[in-house]
Amino acid sequence: MTMLSRVAVVLCATLHISRAIDTSFPPFFKFGAATSAYQVEGAWNTDGKGENVWDLYLHTHPGKAHNATGDVAADSYHQWREDVKAAADMKLHFYRFSINWARVLPTGFSNELNDAGVKYYSELIDALLAAGIEPMVTLYHWDLPVNIQNLGGWTNPLIVDWFGEYARIIYSLYASRVKIWLTINEPNVFCDIFYISGESAPGIKEPVLAPYLCNKHTMLAHARAYRIFDQEFRPRYTGKVSLANNVLNIEPASPKYEKLAELGREHQTGRYSHPIFSKHGGWPPSIEKLMLELSLKQGHKESRLPPFTKEEIEYVRGTADFYGLNYYTTYIIRPAKLDDKPGVWFLTGSPELGAVLENPSNAQYGASPTLPVAPKGLRRVMAWLRRQYGDIDIFITENGFTSSGHELEDYHRVDFYKKHLKEVLLSMKVDNVSVTGYAAWSLVDDFEWLSGYTALFGLYEIDFDHPNRTRTPRLSSYYYACVIEHRTLAFPDSCYQKHISRLRKRKARSRGQISAKFSIVLNAVLVLLSISICQLL
Ligand SMILES: *[C@@H]1O[C@H](CO)[C@@H](O)[C@H](O)[C@H]1NC(C)=O
Ligand SMILES: *[C@@H]1O[C@H](CO)[C@@H](O)[C@H](O)[C@H]1NC(C)=O
Ligand SMILES: *[C@@H]1O[C@H](CO)[C@@H](O)[C@H](O)[C@H]1NC(C)=O
Repeated sequence: MTMLSRVAVVLCATLHISRAIDTSFPPFFKFGAATSAYQVEGAWNTDGKGENVWDLYLHTHPGKAHNATGDVAADSYHQWREDVKAAADMKLHFYRFSINWARVLPTGFSNELNDAGVKYYSELIDALLAAGIEPMVTLYHWDLPVNIQNLGGWTNPLIVDWFGEYARIIYSLYASRVKIWLTINEPNVFCDIFYISGESAPGIKEPVLAPYLCNKHTMLAHARAYRIFDQEFRPRYTGKVSLANNVLNIEPASPKYEKLAELGREHQTGRYSHPIFSKHGGWPPSIEKLMLELSLKQGHKESRLPPFTKEEIEYVRGTADFYGLNYYTTYIIRPAKLDDKPGVWFLTGSPELGAVLENPSNAQYGASPTLPVAPKGLRRVMAWLRRQYGDIDIFITENGFTSSGHELEDYHRVDFYKKHLKEVLLSMKVDNVSVTGYAAWSLVDDFEWLSGYTALFGLYEIDFDHPNRTRTPRLSSYYYACVIEHRTLAFPDSCYQKHISRLRKRKARSRGQISAKFSIVLNAVLVLLSISICQLL
């Protein structure tokens, strides 16, 4: 193609998009990026930090995450200034990170405060604010202190008190500077997937009661943290509080399974949303009924999904200022056949629903076979949330793409963000969904749980072999910076593609460094070898 015809094609494409919908993001819309403590901080036993369930699980099950751990990860405990710099370079409006509970409260309880941990988050918050970046803080991103796990963790109702104490301490330290809070990240992942599979921290496989006890207690603990903020902190400081839910888009394998698909949505999303966001509160009625009937049939005296009391329903209902949405993928649901194995909800299926989940056919993938790329699902889940819970503000708290290896020219990730952000625009402009922000997962490459370092999400690459865990911008970071600068998807490709030659030079340079290092080592070996040969002679 000639240069001219290429320009013409780009222009036509751009005009085509802008004729279809208004491609600008409204002035209130915030762009940011996210990480979580265990996945980036490292420094697992530094400066008085207590042990959490992921520290313990991976130290005692070393093969589980491709032989990797988060002991060092991106070393953000020491390299956090580089994270702030990355966020500032992209001109992010906010940065979402999480507090490592045992770094601030080493025992998990309020009896002991670790000053070094308090100082770490305080400095990070100050540096973000100084760079014009709003901190968005998650209180709990899966790293439960071991002491609390030893007392039953999320299956013990007392965790509601312990989590509330922890939340109060964190608010009292930072609520004058932090205005957006997420209490708990993806409770459906650690309650359902982790207890059903037994394959993640805390390494307990108990699929009968644990997921449902955990479900109830996370709802109550979230509500406790919300109400503490509401009563003790909101009057003094402004601020918004919610939780971040992992919302899977579930589509029926055939239109005749739409009722099953709806049950699937209530089982996956509804159990963690209906108590908080619905008009009447409590469990989604369809799932409450199904679980009671099934439990009695299985010989239990009451539902395995523990009922809420009337007081509890009222206590939890309405405890969110927006909906925090993590969206990654879409699965297809169908009834299980006789020889289908009971699945792990919500990865492969549900014995409770007698259903199987499958990946959509013809999907594209990054490095993770469990995350088919399905941009339209993002719009679908937001429309569903609006139908279920009304015209609530939705803040997309995670969305991102996995790659493997050290690829700075990450065209697939650019494409992923482009397609998902287009669905966000369609949601806002066509479906009238109130979307107020978007967090790319993740700011920098991180420890991706059981995938270890084999599935990387970063807008910035981390050199995990370098002692300083050097950060390098990927092409997607330049793309994202262009979206933020222009507040639209309709900007010329040259906006970010002009950085490609810089990326190639950087890559060549680091390859040069490796070969330079290699030749130093080789020379040293040769010198030693010749010395020993000389001595032999
Ligand atoms: C993990 O380490 C063990 C023992 O060193 C080795 O046999 C295995 O191949 C490693 N697995 C991976 C995924 O690297
Ligand atoms: C969105 O709002 C517009 C204008 O108020 C209205 O015409 C349209 O029907 C709405 N669409 C949906 C899906 O609610
Ligand atoms: C790591 O960073 C420190 C402090 O900035 C610096 O002094 C050191 O040279 C770096 N190490 C390497 C191997 O680049």
